[in-house]
Amino acid sequence: MKNLVLLALISCLVACGGGGGGSNHQTSSTYASSISSDSSSFSSVPALKDLADFPIGMEVSAADQPRSIFIEKSQLPTINKHFNSLVAGVIMKMSFLHPEEFNYHYTDADDLADYAAENGMILHGHTLIWHWDSQIPDWMKNYTGDWQAMLDDHVTQITAHFAGKVVSWDVVNEAIDPETESGFRESIFYQKLGSKYIENAFIAAREADPAAVLYYNDFAMEASQRKLELMLAMLDDFKERGIPVDGVGFQMHTNIFDPSIEQIQASFKAVADRGYIVRISEMDVTVNRFNEQFFYNHIKELQKQRYKNIIKAYLAAVPAAQRGGITFWGLVDGESWVNELDPDYRDWPLLFNDDYSPKPAFFGVVEALLDE
Ligand code: XIL
Repeated sequence: MKNLVLLALISCLVACGGGGGGSNHQTSSTYASSISSDSSSFSSVPALKDLADFPIGMEVSAADQPRSIFIEKSQLPTINKHFNSLVAGVIMKMSFLHPEEFNYHYTDADDLADYAAENGMILHGHTLIWHWDSQIPDWMKNYTGDWQAMLDDHVTQITAHFAGKVVSWDVVNEAIDPETESGFRESIFYQKLGSKYIENAFIAAREADPAAVLYYNDFAMEASQRKLELMLAMLDDFKERGIPVDGVGFQMHTNIFDPSIEQIQASFKAVADRGYIVRISEMDVTVNRFNEQFFYNHIKELQKQRYKNIIKAYLAAVPAAQRGGITFWGLVDGESWVNELDPDYRDWPLLFNDDYSPKPAFFGVVEALLDE
């Protein structure tokens, strides 16, 4: 609660309709005046990255992809102001980085790494192994040779190339499946190698870049008790056998309805208690379960509270030294991946409106971070 005084000050200023006077703390006073007057003003809101002692990240497009940061430059002031960590939404996945067996494509990701470095940001690598059909290159799907050797090479080459440019990796993404008997997703990797491919990927990544922080990343571990338990059993087994996993990424593609905050907090804690670093790696909070056409004000408020409560749960469950940070999966609602999935469905899951003005959700994040 180191910012209790600031919060009290903010509440007073807002309640009194006052401006920013009376405080010599730039962040709190400008935040207060932004709420009481123009909450969309760029310069009057605090920078999220200044409110945390851990990375605050943003998922971005790059290369020639839609909304690439190298093309859609209107987004850069907002990204540069609030975030000190970047992750590529698409261009560091398998098929993009490794389009042919003997051809690795690095130039676009190198450009992103340069952008991050030039702007004082870290780059998180996502992801070395993922089952998503369109992200597995065709040559790999049809591969008939030694699968383990091939995947080792994939992980080794990419991790070694980005050593010194990428601080951490999602080594394996979404390998657990609570619906299967084995508890593992029956991806092509599992079909070829069983669950061994997971540990071998971590071993290869550690060897190729000993300095990189290595994450297992997955969704809904906070929502499915069985999925969490399967993942914890895998971690415990890995720990016993010395498999080098440093942390766990909770994607946190969630919504305003469920699961409960208590369940979310307990799932963070179960991982933190085992000594792992915990990241919120792909956060977004959907609101539109009932397919409404409008984003009503009371829903905006519920979304704000949900962002705030999840981040508070993270801060409560994960000791400061084990916080890998919080990354949001997209900047403005219009670009969210959830709006790519189905043309008849629309949602508003992120922190900013399409004109880059901050939503109430943004202020929920601010309040959670200040409230520590
Ligand atoms: C999504 C991207 O945001 C989309 O643009 C792409 O078409 C598909 O992948 N879990 C993950 C992310 O780990 O890689 C996914 O990103 C969202 C779900």
